Amino acid sequence: MGSNAKRKLVGILTSGGDCPGLNATIRGVGKALERNGVRLVGFLDGFTGLALDRYIELDSSSLSGILTVGGTILGTSRNKPHKMLIGDKIVDMTDVIVENYHKHDLDALVCLGGGGTQKNAMRLADAGLNVLTLPKTIDNDIYGTDVTFGFDTALGIATEAIDRLHSTATSHHRVIVVEIMGHRVGWLALGAGVAGGADGILIPEIPYEIDKLAEALRERAKMGKRFSIVAVAEGAMSVEMAEKVAKWASKKESASDKAEKRKASKKLKEFHEEHMSHTIDLTKELEKRTGLEARLSILGHLQRGGIPSAADRVLSTILGAACAEAIMDGVENAMVAMRNGKAVPVPLKEIAGKIKFVPREHQWIDAARALGVSFGD
Ligand code: F6P
Repeated sequence: MGSNAKRKLVGILTSGGDCPGLNATIRGVGKALERNGVRLVGFLDGFTGLALDRYIELDSSSLSGILTVGGTILGTSRNKPHKMLIGDKIVDMTDVIVENYHKHDLDALVCLGGGGTQKNAMRLADAGLNVLTLPKTIDNDIYGTDVTFGFDTALGIATEAIDRLHSTATSHHRVIVVEIMGHRVGWLALGAGVAGGADGILIPEIPYEIDKLAEALRERAKMGKRFSIVAVAEGAMSVEMAEKVAKWASKKESASDKAEKRKASKKLKEFHEEHMSHTIDLTKELEKRTGLEARLSILGHLQRGGIPSAADRVLSTILGAACAEAIMDGVENAMVAMRNGKAVPVPLKEIAGKIKFVPREHQWIDAARALGVSFGD
């Protein structure tokens, strides 16, 4: 590792939804920096801490014993620098953040976060700060990295849940629908569905027709399989819903005036609200269309809680150490990503604002289809 005498103080924060591996990553960055004589301060509750100048020193004693601890010792929030909820007002705090960064004479700001955080980091880089990011999320949807920390742990939790649902589904001869997180992508539902041996898997990347899924479940029943498990990504949509959303999203994108844009946003919000009860409606419909008793299990935030898996601890430690190395080497405005098994810095401008969807021809999908799993298409 090269050394750079000018780099004396680094700030770090965690932003967006929490996930297992955040503390392991903070520890990785902090311990590796400390060995190079660099101090680390942690800003509290995401970008809010940087805006309000609320921080703690992160030294060897505060970094000790956090490798296995879930959540984040720094706290987190979904507050954005340019649209921050302060009291009951939304305020643009970008200038205040820039001021605080310079007041502390930071050499770099490390942001641990998901897709939204990458965009916010880019905004701060555009405002003149040196920002390095690390890819965190159970959703595994960050563009430019093969994998994100938090995903492996959540995959294990969701898979274990499916395993446990199997025995009760078998005993009662039921269809059990299990809703799995993932925001707009299907990595977690697909991975857990394959690992847990689900009979149906619905993901946003493959809009579904309920009749096709119901038909597949009826076929199973005819073959004497008296239960079925359907893994459903929270963002999965029927063909009709996906078409409506795509239509209004493109109207919003191409709107020529504010009124048109507002109308499109309102429509999208309505669809989002309608979609909130999606798996409840789906379960009822499946019961009706198959004649089989059905139940729904929503895994929710269980998937984000608790200790990180061994794989996530290894990944977090690799990424944390690589981030410290990048800072020492003078790398600026980059996300430290995993590519082909190696931690490498990728320019923020190449990844900010993009989403890593599951490719339609992904081998997890191919393998599941080969075994007769229904994707409802
Ligand atoms: O991005 C992580 C994630 O858990 C998504 O899977 C989910 O859609 C979202 O966060 C839930 O956010 P919140 O915890 O704010 O409800």
